[in-house]
Amino acid sequence: MLLFKTTAILAFWSFLDHVAANQRNDAIRVKSGQSIQAAINAAHRGDRIIVEAGTYAEQLTITTSGISLIGRDAVIVPPTTPTSNTCSDLAGPGTQAGICIAGKNVILQDLSQFDGEHRKVTSVGTYVKDVSVSGFTIQGFIFGLNIAVVGAQNACINSNTASSASNYGILTVGSKSSNIAGNTVLSVPGGPFPVLGPFFPYFIGICMDDTSTVDVAHNDISGYFIGLCVQTAGANIHDNNVHDVCVGAFVDPGNDGARLHDNTFTGSVPADCPAIPKYSSGITISGATNTLVRGNRFIGIKNTGQAAGVAVLDNMDDTTGATTANASGNKVQDNWFKNNDLDILDTATGAGNVVRQNQCKTSNPTGLCN
Ligand SMILES: *[C@@H]1O[C@H](CO)[C@@H](O)[C@H](O)[C@H]1NC(C)=O
Repeated sequence: MLLFKTTAILAFWSFLDHVAANQRNDAIRVKSGQSIQAAINAAHRGDRIIVEAGTYAEQLTITTSGISLIGRDAVIVPPTTPTSNTCSDLAGPGTQAGICIAGKNVILQDLSQFDGEHRKVTSVGTYVKDVSVSGFTIQGFIFGLNIAVVGAQNACINSNTASSASNYGILTVGSKSSNIAGNTVLSVPGGPFPVLGPFFPYFIGICMDDTSTVDVAHNDISGYFIGLCVQTAGANIHDNNVHDVCVGAFVDPGNDGARLHDNTFTGSVPADCPAIPKYSSGITISGATNTLVRGNRFIGIKNTGQAAGVAVLDNMDDTTGATTANASGNKVQDNWFKNNDLDILDTATGAGNVVRQNQCKTSNPTGLCN
């Protein structure tokens, strides 16, 4: 008993010590007119950097583990001269990121292999760990990304507003255990963007292309061609509100075991979205496997009669029409549908796709809603 008490007291003391050690790291403060990057460069593991209200014309690079960057009404806009860092050219030649969280010695896929979306991460020397960024507004990165997480572990991107990036609001690629929560990702219609493709000026709200699980929750996403791009096996995507996009969530060919639950997908898709279910939907599973779609709400998803709440499809090459990946083992269950062109479309030929117990009215093939 005594031994237990001693151990408990020692544990308590060491806990207090730990708290004290953290408190000794007084927050570093950055005021309007000062450089956030200078504060980041001077910071050590465990430091908090609080950025006061103001507009900061900077691109930020964070490569030190354990830094918390906290905005208090701070707005990040592009500098006159772009800053070169690991996230430069990430979404194609000339693209830049507003905030770049990057590991050391990150090797990106060669630009010659760029597929028009983003470059994959080939290898990471050392992951940057436990970085958090919260409370910022990032805007004006017309040609690029608002926030990019490349070769990081346990990065937290919370409660930021990411506005009107042509390519990505938030992209995490080649990282582990990223957490993206409570952000507002939007676009302002009619901005001076270079049009990216035939359909929609702003490409992707939040994209995850990580090497191990990612949590994407409680974000509000609107005004992009694709709200959520799902390219991480086992991704956990929940409680997001996605509206006024072409595709709420696009689960990529070959992606395995993503879970999309308790999200809400609403709003007629914008008029310039292609009027086919693949690109006018709440969720499109396009040749992915073992996806779980459960407890989501799909309301008012319409595009001249061609949109679907959920579409389970084999992936076809957009140009040749050839099937490149069969959808299999996907489960669509316990979702709620109202006022969509079509609630559920399931044309996948792969084995083991299950659609059941949904509160829906219309399906193709018919009978999936009974
Ligand atoms: C899809 O499944 C069909 C059989 O159902 C098969 O013939 C075809 O090769 C598969 N395609 C791919 C890309 O796996």
